[in-house]
Amino acid sequence: MTDDFDVLRQPLTLGAIELPHRLVMAPLTRNRADEDGTANELIAEYYGQRAGSAALIVSEATWVSQQGKPYPRTPGIATDQHRDGWRLTTDAVHAEGGKIVAQLWHGGRIGHPDTSGQELVSASATPLESLTIFTPTEAKAAIPAPRALTLEEITTVVQDFVAAAKRAIDAGFDGVEVHAANGYLLQQFLSDNTNHRDDAYGGSPENRARFVAEVVRAVVDAIGADRVGIRLSPLAPAHEMAEQDGGDTYRALAKELAPLHLAYVHLLAQPEDALTAELRAAYGAPVLLNTGFAKNTERAEAISFVADGHADASVVGRAFIANPDLYERWSQDAPQNETRTNLFYASGPEGYTDYPTLAEAEAQTATA
Ligand code: PHB
Repeated sequence: MTDDFDVLRQPLTLGAIELPHRLVMAPLTRNRADEDGTANELIAEYYGQRAGSAALIVSEATWVSQQGKPYPRTPGIATDQHRDGWRLTTDAVHAEGGKIVAQLWHGGRIGHPDTSGQELVSASATPLESLTIFTPTEAKAAIPAPRALTLEEITTVVQDFVAAAKRAIDAGFDGVEVHAANGYLLQQFLSDNTNHRDDAYGGSPENRARFVAEVVRAVVDAIGADRVGIRLSPLAPAHEMAEQDGGDTYRALAKELAPLHLAYVHLLAQPEDALTAELRAAYGAPVLLNTGFAKNTERAEAISFVADGHADASVVGRAFIANPDLYERWSQDAPQNETRTNLFYASGPEGYTDYPTLAEAEAQTATA
C-alpha cells in the first residue's frame, strides 16, 4: 500500500549515518539532567523510548563548557563524568536500533552567572534585554550584559567544541550537530545585530561567518565530516536575533562549509522561503527541516516538507515529546497523546517518560 506518508518511509544517508526513514526527533531542552550537567538514567530511558521510532534523535542542546551553560539542569559534555552519563543514553538508543547525535551548544549572552558561575560572553557586549531567565534560585532573573570574547578566548571556545565532539564520540554518539541557531553564541557571531566586532570576526558577512566556520572545520578535523551536522536558523527572530543582511552571512558560511561535505544541515526555516532553497543548494548537504521550536508540527506539514521537495527529512519536536512511537502513529494516521506543555521543563518522569505508546494506551483503555 502506498499513501502520502510514503515519502517519509524512504531511507536516507547522512554521511556515515544511515536512517531507515525520514522522521527525525528534534533537539528539545527538558531540564532533567543532574545539577552538574550529567545525563542520568531517566534521560536514557526517555531517549530509549523514542529510539525505535525516530529515524535519528538530535539530543537536547548540550553545553560544551561550563562557561556556555545557559540554564539549570541542562546537560553538558564538558567532563569525563558527562561522557559516562551520556553513555547510558547512547546504549539505550542503540539497544533499540536507533541513532543519536549530540547537539553541541554554547549559550553566549544567554545564561546567567548564577547558573554557570562565570561571566556571560558573546561576540560583542550587546545584552539580551527583553527576556528573563531561570537561574538555580530565580524564575525571572534579568540577564546581565555579556563581554566580548578576546581573540585568545575565541581559540579556546573552538577547542571546547572540539573536545566536546571527541567526548561525544567516546560516549557512543553517532555524530554531533554544531548548534549555530536560535540566538546562542554561534549565531551571536553570525548576526549583525549582536556582532559589532571590528576584527577578523566582524564587519562583513565573511568575517561574521568566520568563527562558525572555524568551529565546524576544527570539529570535522577531529571526528570526520561524515559525522558532523550544523543547525542554522537564518533570519529567524529567536532570542532577539534581527539579522539585517538578507542572508549574506549564511551565503558566506556556505562557501566555507560546502567543500567539507558535512553529514547534514539542519535548518530552522520556512519551507516556502526562497532563501531556504538557495541555502540548501549552496551547502550541498542533505537538509533536515524544522519550522520553529515553540510550535507544533502536524503530520501533514512533516509530509509536505519532503513531498514538496523542500527537505530530505522532517524534524519534529513536540509530537515526539508526547508520542514515543510517533513514526508508527503517523504511519497509520493513528490518534496522538495529548501534550502536557506545563511539564516540558518540570523534573522527574511525569510528562517525560510516562507517555504511552499506542498499544499501551489501547491496553489502558481496554482495562479502564
Ligand atoms: C531552550 O532551551 O529554550 C532552547 C534551547 C535550544 C534551542 C532553542 C531553545 O535551540
